[in-house]
Amino acid sequence: MFGKKKQIPQIDAAQLALIKYAEKRIKQKKRVYIHFIVFLIGAVFLIVANTVLGIGKDFKIAGLEWFVIAIVLWLCFFIYHTVSVFITHKFMGKDWEDQQREVLVAKQQERIEKLKQQFLKEETEIAKSQAYNASLENSSSNQKKKSELTIIVAAGENNAIGKDNDLIWHLSDDLKRFKSLTNGHHIIMGRKTFESFPKPLPNRTHIVITRQGSYKAPDGVIVVNNMEDALDAARHDKQPFIIGGGEIYKQSMALVDKIEITRVHHSFENADTFFPEIDISIWKEIHRKEHSIDEKHKFSFTFLTYERK
Ligand SMILES: NC(=O)c1ccc[n+]([C@@H]2O[C@H](COP(=O)([O-])OP(=O)(O)OC[C@H]3O[C@@H](n4cnc5c(N)ncnc54)[C@H](OP(=O)(O)O)[C@@H]3O)[C@@H](O)[C@H]2O)c1
Repeated sequence: MFGKKKQIPQIDAAQLALIKYAEKRIKQKKRVYIHFIVFLIGAVFLIVANTVLGIGKDFKIAGLEWFVIAIVLWLCFFIYHTVSVFITHKFMGKDWEDQQREVLVAKQQERIEKLKQQFLKEETEIAKSQAYNASLENSSSNQKKKSELTIIVAAGENNAIGKDNDLIWHLSDDLKRFKSLTNGHHIIMGRKTFESFPKPLPNRTHIVITRQGSYKAPDGVIVVNNMEDALDAARHDKQPFIIGGGEIYKQSMALVDKIEITRVHHSFENADTFFPEIDISIWKEIHRKEHSIDEKHKFSFTFLTYERK
């Protein structure tokens, strides 16, 4: 587990090639120096052989002693060798230059590819963030356009809201609040709640939900056969109200943005219609106002406003 680490060579292929060529170059230069020494010794030997030892004393070419011609020829060969090593091959030779050029081109191509990928990634990120911003803008503008669908209800401590298709209490300040909040708006209700009114409420657009295909209602009252059509009929209202009763409240709890509830501080055990429980993990209380018992109000109550968390 903690044994010696294997030594990994720290040089790449290009560096290795460079070293090999450098070694080759040193060898070439060494050969030139050795050639020079051999040439000097050889020249001295030729001179001695001819002049001292008398070898080929009478042999001449174009009037010149043979050893002079031999030394000149050898000198020419030596000069050719030197030029070929130091000048013609220049630095590392043509092969090495070609190889280096190829390595360089490959590296450049690799870099271009990386830049392309990076560019593509950045473009994708920009496109994503633009799409995200656009969707945010859309959703925020939708939210601005969207109306605030609100439930308005009065319920006892046990969530009781009615009995025998009527209210169980009479609280005049609660009715005033109901009138002031819903004034000028669309009010959506179930057929039974609608029938609990002596006549339609003034200055409000009534939308009555019923399953009956030929339900007759007074002029100006909109009759629909489902919740979707009710909401559609109220789509131009900035704050349509769901005003009950029990069945309609249950069906609209998941759809509304706000709840205006008057909590009547009494438990009405004889009730037959109830409001659903308000789940405080979904709803947050944003406003409350207490109202105590007085000559006009048999029960104390609290006006509470909830908004979705
Ligand atoms: N305390 C309060 O704030 C408050 C407010 C309002 C009402 N209330 C009380 O609540 C009671 C009435 O409530 P409720 O639950 O009995 O009746 P409701 O909700 O007022 O009306 C129920 C009727 O609505 C229609 N309906 C319901 N869901 C429908 C759907 N999805 N599609 C088509 N039509 C649909 C049906 O009409 P059809 O039978 O014609 O098909 C159904 O019988 C009364 O006691 C009233 O006084 C209390």
